[in-house]
Amino acid sequence: MRTENEVVDVFPDVTALTKAAGEHFVLLAKDAVAARGVFTVALSGGSTPKVLYTLLATDQSLRGAIPWSNTHFFFGDERHVPPDHVESNFRMVNEAMFRRLAPISTRIHRVPAENPDAVNAAAQYEANMRELFGLKGLVRAGFPRFDLILLGMGPDGHTASLFPGTVALGETKRWVVANWVEKLKTHRITFTFPVLNNAAEVILFVAGPDKAPMVAEVLGRAGNVPRYPVQMVQPRNGVKRWMLDKPAASLLAPN
Ligand code: 6PG
Repeated sequence: MRTENEVVDVFPDVTALTKAAGEHFVLLAKDAVAARGVFTVALSGGSTPKVLYTLLATDQSLRGAIPWSNTHFFFGDERHVPPDHVESNFRMVNEAMFRRLAPISTRIHRVPAENPDAVNAAAQYEANMRELFGLKGLVRAGFPRFDLILLGMGPDGHTASLFPGTVALGETKRWVVANWVEKLKTHRITFTFPVLNNAAEVILFVAGPDKAPMVAEVLGRAGNVPRYPVQMVQPRNGVKRWMLDKPAASLLAPN
């Protein structure tokens, strides 16, 4: 079931999906900088968005259009590992995009996930966010208002590191928490729903046939009560935009 501010765009393949997402990213970035002088964006981890990050840094028309020096990159979630660890979302984005930007500079706000105390790392990250969003007057209703939060979705319906059955799903005050994920036997550091739902736009960037059953579950059945974390992403004053490739949308009814 879709809410009125929910948009679903399906593209023939990952190449078309990634190009469209890159062009939309540029549009949002230029609008934000024109309106407020900065573009605040939180990136998703995992494997799907890697191609998008590489395209932003290597496609000359996209690279040339993005206001990099006025862009503040954050991470919607991070694994509890150092930044050079193979599991690190920062490492993934750095290899795909950041390191390819030289000599262009941009503002990167990395999660201090090397801190062995995950709770403390989350608190440090939140303090960093509070400083920037407070300084720029970008706090609304007590939470940061991101111009864009890019999210993925797991086959189990998790998004960011908000996994089914985990404590963080119920957080209503903090911006960032350390969330124990029993099935992974580890903490993940993650934005909370109040932050996700305060964004001007959230993009669910989802590709591949393995996501099709969950996409059909969360988008296909009318009137269903939210059962999965990805359904609890409901921006109050913003757009929830699904950007899917055909395989990920393959179990959705034609309309
Ligand atoms: C992470 C992500 C996570 C991811 C989904 C989908 O840290 O892994 O933030 O929420 O978006 O698990 O991952 P894939 O893109 O690898 O399928």
